[in-house]
Amino acid sequence: MNVKEFDVVVVGAGLSGLRAALELSEHWKVAVVSKVHPVRSHSGAAQGGINASLSNTEAGQEDSPDKHAYDTVYGSDYLADQDAVLYMCEEAPKIVIEFESMGAPFSRLDSGLIAQRPFGGAGFPRTCYAADRTGHVLLHTLYEQCIHKRVQFFDEHFLVDLIKVNEQITGILSLDLITGELVTFRSGYVVLATGGFGRTYKRSTNAIINTGDGVGAAFRVGVPMQDCEFVQFHPTTLYGTNILITEGARGEGGLLYNNLGERFMLEVAPKSKELAPRDIVARAIETEVREGRGFEDAYVHLDLTHLGPERINERLPGIREISIHFAGVDPIKEPIPVQPGQHYSMGGIGTKFEGNFGETILTGLYAIGEASCISVHGANRLGGNSLLETSVFGRYIGRTLLENGLPIMPEEELIVKSEEQTLKELVKLFAKWDKNKGKKPIEIKDSMGAILDTKVGVFRTEVELEEAYNEICKLQKEFKNVHIPTVEKQFNFGLIRTLELRNMIDIAEVTAYAALWRKESRGAHSRFDYPNRNDEEFLSHSMVTRDEDGKLKLDTKPIKLGHFEIKERVY
Ligand code: FUM
Repeated sequence: MNVKEFDVVVVGAGLSGLRAALELSEHWKVAVVSKVHPVRSHSGAAQGGINASLSNTEAGQEDSPDKHAYDTVYGSDYLADQDAVLYMCEEAPKIVIEFESMGAPFSRLDSGLIAQRPFGGAGFPRTCYAADRTGHVLLHTLYEQCIHKRVQFFDEHFLVDLIKVNEQITGILSLDLITGELVTFRSGYVVLATGGFGRTYKRSTNAIINTGDGVGAAFRVGVPMQDCEFVQFHPTTLYGTNILITEGARGEGGLLYNNLGERFMLEVAPKSKELAPRDIVARAIETEVREGRGFEDAYVHLDLTHLGPERINERLPGIREISIHFAGVDPIKEPIPVQPGQHYSMGGIGTKFEGNFGETILTGLYAIGEASCISVHGANRLGGNSLLETSVFGRYIGRTLLENGLPIMPEEELIVKSEEQTLKELVKLFAKWDKNKGKKPIEIKDSMGAILDTKVGVFRTEVELEEAYNEICKLQKEFKNVHIPTVEKQFNFGLIRTLELRNMIDIAEVTAYAALWRKESRGAHSRFDYPNRNDEEFLSHSMVTRDEDGKLKLDTKPIKLGHFEIKERVY
């Protein structure tokens, strides 16, 4: 067996993984394992910006980290952990200035300060941006820094499984896509930074790589999935392809219209209008369409024409290109057809109530970024807080692990035994897959996506959730008999898609299961049959595990409250 030894293995090379690796590599031997080249990570797709209370604009003079934290907790419908939110918002100005000092090319005000635009649910213009390509520039900036510090990258290595010895993680088993070799990385810590799992849905802004590989692997070794019922639907994805049309477009003044020419957000959210939080705008658009006021029973219009060519070309050049190339619409001249689509996973790898942010119940295993549920977003994330979370907690985890020191490893004999066992089980799985006579992975994946789109969407009901859960359980059975023509390991994307599906189908099952359990409406989880928030029974995190009989089991974890008083949300 090919075994590589490191102090830390970071899985995932998006912003959170890179930022953690940068910090850790100052003192330790660090490997970054990623299934794609780092600059192809999905962080690069984030458009609108990164939040920080810099108070650079005239309208933002009264902003502060506490006000940022308040907006975040209020926007989260009180499901966010307030200690983590306060930490993130306190660190936000420092992390943005750090990016600036690394050379990130932010857009600027005439004064020379970093420009900030208004975003949904924010009391002040707080979102720092680089036109509409913010994630792209931040990802490249961090990658340059990592190269400079000689971080060791293992690109095109797929995380297959975590290696567990008793209740400790001692490394990972990966598949090198280029050589086809199975490679074991042995390390004191494994940091999962594998991003979200939006590809469980069909209508999604997510890259095809967003398949929850870290979440699935952690779940298989007993780590709970936390708050998976909270799925963010971005209000404005391009009709047809569901490519993201940034909230920055509304931040710059874009307006939403139905087929009667009405600006429906005036009624839905009289104060915030188009810049209400995403859950509210997504529900408003879905309602317009359901009630017959959409176009082609599918979308509404996002109008930017009044902004004029200069502003569109300067602030939203990517959006213009996307609209022209993928919808045949030039936003300088005509409105963009938009509809809600899956965008972000508020839930993810469950973290401990006590302990460091991102710490899991298994010794040596940490999770950060969208893969994790440190729960700074609660039931609904505010736009611009995702890039922030990745970099703040990436740096945090680096600093924290260095401070904690390396854990004591189990005896080598036990580690080797576990590695061999993990490998044996995988080989057994592979041996089945080309002999099975069942469906192709893509067929199962398509069914899963359609079920989630239609029955675990913007609006939910008991009947539909129950159907979704049962149908996904059926797909789980079909997956046991999944067929791929060959398990040749070198660049075999049939095999990779099957390994990804193994992760996604567990996540889909947990999503429907937790959504069925949560009999209330909170943030992005909106149930027609339980239209109100129910703090008495449901002000807690859902934590789902699989028991020894293969059945799902849901426990709850308290929310860290105490800094902000709980209120009804009104926008
Ligand atoms: O709309 C956007 O630009 C997305 C930003 C985000 O998800 O934070």
